[in-house]
Amino acid sequence: MNKDVKTVVITGSSRGFGFCQAKKFKELGFNVVLSATNESNLLKALEELNTINPDETNAVSVVCDVTRREDLENLWKEAIGFFGRVDIWVNNAGVNSPDKPVCELTEKEISTLLDIDLKGVVYGSVVAFNGMKEQGFGQIYNVEGYGSNDAMMTGLTMYGTAKRAVTYFTRSLAKESHELTKDQIKVCRLTPGIMITDFLTKANGDATQIILSEKKKKAYNVLGDYPETIAEYVVPRMIRNQKNDARIIWLTRARALGKFLTARKNQYF
Ligand SMILES: NC(=O)c1ccc[n+]([C@@H]2O[C@H](COP(=O)([O-])OP(=O)(O)OC[C@H]3O[C@@H](n4cnc5c(N)ncnc54)[C@H](O)[C@@H]3O)[C@@H](O)[C@H]2O)c1
Repeated sequence: MNKDVKTVVITGSSRGFGFCQAKKFKELGFNVVLSATNESNLLKALEELNTINPDETNAVSVVCDVTRREDLENLWKEAIGFFGRVDIWVNNAGVNSPDKPVCELTEKEISTLLDIDLKGVVYGSVVAFNGMKEQGFGQIYNVEGYGSNDAMMTGLTMYGTAKRAVTYFTRSLAKESHELTKDQIKVCRLTPGIMITDFLTKANGDATQIILSEKKKKAYNVLGDYPETIAEYVVPRMIRNQKNDARIIWLTRARALGKFLTARKNQYF
């Protein structure tokens, strides 16, 4: 084990934004711990990841369901066991909500969403924070989403509730870290905007298909980007970041306005 090589742990990294971050971190010299619930998807992703920068870095995969705190404790232990340190931990796993008014959601649809999108982030942050406190350094990133800034839309009420809470939780943990660790542990946010991933058309994990309205298709076609593009932008900034409570934003107001003004028309959908 070469303890000089930095390590990143990313939850929900078998595909989508998590996997794209993993590839960029590996390219930039990090050891990577991939994790998600489905082992065969993880192994496929790991095979691809291992083709990147193989002489300088390593990658492993660990099955981890973020709704189970013991899985997250195990993820931390495995990462330390493999690589001896965790420099960056990303609570990336997340699911979309079925496109229905909140009062039509079942108890299971509501609890699945809150368990993954909110409790998963809370448990992941707590486990990473406690581990980083012991090792004396580290950065935690939580992923914001629709609702983090108080935006509201029928069909996204529960998702927005979870993401709004993720934003509050992350900032409040950053404040605690300032008091408890003098900012040795940095608790930060990633704000990716709209990414063209399975997330947009699948809800509750992959349990439900979402039929996109023409209005949503139009918005996604103008504002969306592939997750590779966003990882390319955010990962170097995460690596360079020195600030507690930092927020790394892809889809800034200016960028969104630029996309509308140039009448950018992608044909994703
Ligand atoms: N796609 C977008 O437009 C968008 C926009 C803003 C924020 N986000 C957020 O970005 C993050 C990644 O989303 P994505 O678009 O890559 O989605 P995705 O569906 O492509 O990937 C989600 C990943 O999370 C994993 N996952 C799901 N449930 C899990 C669980 N219980 N435990 C562990 N892993 C689990 C999946 O296996 C998958 O690897 C999420 O937090 C999402 O809310 C997405």
